[in-house]
Amino acid sequence: MSTTFQLDTATSRANPTPQPMKRLTVPAIQRRKAGGSTQEPLVMLTAYTARQAQLLDPHCDMLLVGDSLGQVIYGLPSTLPVTLEMMIAHGAAVVRGSYHAVVIVDLPFGSYEVSPQQAFASASRIMAETGAAGVKLEGGIAMAETISFLAQRGIPVMGHIGLTPQAVNALGGYAARGRSEEEHAKILADGEAVARAGAFAVVIEGVVEPIAVTLTQALSIPTIGIGASAQCDGQVLVTEDMIGMFDRVPRFVRRYGAIGDAIGDLAAQYAKDVKARTFPSADQTYQPKA
Ligand code: KIV
Repeated sequence: MSTTFQLDTATSRANPTPQPMKRLTVPAIQRRKAGGSTQEPLVMLTAYTARQAQLLDPHCDMLLVGDSLGQVIYGLPSTLPVTLEMMIAHGAAVVRGSYHAVVIVDLPFGSYEVSPQQAFASASRIMAETGAAGVKLEGGIAMAETISFLAQRGIPVMGHIGLTPQAVNALGGYAARGRSEEEHAKILADGEAVARAGAFAVVIEGVVEPIAVTLTQALSIPTIGIGASAQCDGQVLVTEDMIGMFDRVPRFVRRYGAIGDAIGDLAAQYAKDVKARTFPSADQTYQPKA
């Protein structure tokens, strides 16, 4: 029986009910690319809270606790100020709210770049304190030694190449990568290095499509695209972009709803009722015993 717990949605309080469900594993995700191609693409979305994880879990192979939570949840200007403590708190919430998907947690900026040993110290805290199945880190050739160090010590690593948001200051913005021959060749070399180092999968973000297609065909590990190509072995999006929480819609996002507008409409209805004193009504008030 699974040792993970499902929340009780009726009370919205954590009510630990053991679920007899088997959680997917990293090797199971890797096996989806048996023989060099993926029959059914892998589905990954970001999740930052327990309730969000609970809603997404039945539909996803992997849930990513992305450091994009810096902007999405905390209103920060970039992912750079995100801390290990923030990632651990949200990672643990997502693991508590899910029982099917593989949960991967981002290593935040500054928590892994110094040395493989620093990366192991940070990643092992994430694994121990959240119950996640692996970590994701940004960088290609420069991070190969670190990926290999973690993978050899029992920590599954998802690579992240192409447009790497933690390097926004060095890249000069969030524009798609790989338009020059030099950059194109560098991203291909990054993908190969990450796979050779032992990453179990790699996110390819914001690149011209031929790069994603070439890497998907060349690498034995699954490629997960975001702003990359439908030919990738899987896709990931920031959930809040996909459900329409924000007005700005990046080119690579498909909006499947307008949840931001819906929340605004519901708040307006509530405000109207409060001002008209029609909320609370008899149904929502307590009376003394007759
Ligand atoms: O932080 C994040 O959400 C990510 C995805 C966009 C891939 O890294």
